[in-house]
Amino acid sequence: MRTRFTDMFGITHPITQGGMQWVGRAELVAAVANSGALGFLTALTQPTPQDLTKEIQRTREMTDQPFGVNLTILPSINPPPYGEYRKAIIDAGVPFVETAGANPVEHLADFHSAGIKVLHKCTSVRHAVKAQELGVDAVSIDGFECAGHPGEDDIPGLVLIPAAADRLTIPFIASGGFADGRGLVAALALGADGINMGTRFLCTAESPVHDAVKAHLIAADEHQTDLIFRPLRNTARVARNAISRQVVQILSDGGSFDDVRDLVVGIRGRTVYETGDVHAGIWTAGLSQGLIHDIPTVEQLVSRIVNQAESIIENRLRTFTG
Ligand SMILES: Cc1cc2nc3c(=O)[nH]c(=O)nc-3n(C[C@H](O)[C@H](O)[C@H](O)COP(=O)(O)O)c2cc1C
Repeated sequence: MRTRFTDMFGITHPITQGGMQWVGRAELVAAVANSGALGFLTALTQPTPQDLTKEIQRTREMTDQPFGVNLTILPSINPPPYGEYRKAIIDAGVPFVETAGANPVEHLADFHSAGIKVLHKCTSVRHAVKAQELGVDAVSIDGFECAGHPGEDDIPGLVLIPAAADRLTIPFIASGGFADGRGLVAALALGADGINMGTRFLCTAESPVHDAVKAHLIAADEHQTDLIFRPLRNTARVARNAISRQVVQILSDGGSFDDVRDLVVGIRGRTVYETGDVHAGIWTAGLSQGLIHDIPTVEQLVSRIVNQAESIIENRLRTFTG
């Protein structure tokens, strides 16, 4: 399936695996690259920029296909050394970066001078248009269905994607709620040039998380996520569990971030992935978990999505036009 996105990034399939904290490591990203899709290592999963350099090297030992790095820029009291992570990405000669979380303007010129293509992920048409004006190469737009940060506008993909298509001239991909070939065809029909997935890749054989987490995703349906941090206007969609319920309750009762700080620390989320105790902390999952019923290899998943999409276009859709 050839689109403006596959042409620009030189990949075979119009599918990306977005950054995933604690999950976007060499094993998964190399498998995605080997499948002909585009995977992104998650820079901040690595404790230091030097560790990121090593992780890029480790990925290269597992694939000769291109891959990228996600740089998530979030407001923080003690921000990570973003400039040093940026330099590690540039020095390693990585061809693609996915920026997310905030306006990428501070990083764009350096990435572009190094010949790196920047895919900026955002959650609203106005931010997508802004990123286009800043000169990013492509946009990934996350609908309300997505895992992680959906923003505060609550616009699902069915409206967000065509609204973005009306305003963007650069290639863009649709993100949030995609898990199969039906979603890929829908995204293309709505005007996108491909899809980005997180939750679906979280539940693959190469995803470096405990099997109990994958079993939980298969058992859960589309109802079992929570939106935490809503009153703080920093909403995150996460897997519903004992901790997420507590956080929602405390904040809706008027609590402050300090009242939930210990519950939401990142290390607890990491424990979930490492030990399989799905109630140990906050971990990220989207509505697409309702469409997940198995643990394929990445190669099986990507070829299944593309084959299903092609079959829908050639068979089901054709019947409507005679
Ligand atoms: C476990 C997990 C961790 C994530 N961490 C990040 C992150 O660190 N940075 C980021 O930009 N997006 C992150 N995301 C969001 C994904 O990159 C992607 O935008 C989102 O999952 C798309 O929605 P979907 O899960 O419905 O496919 C994460 C998603 C998951 C499932």
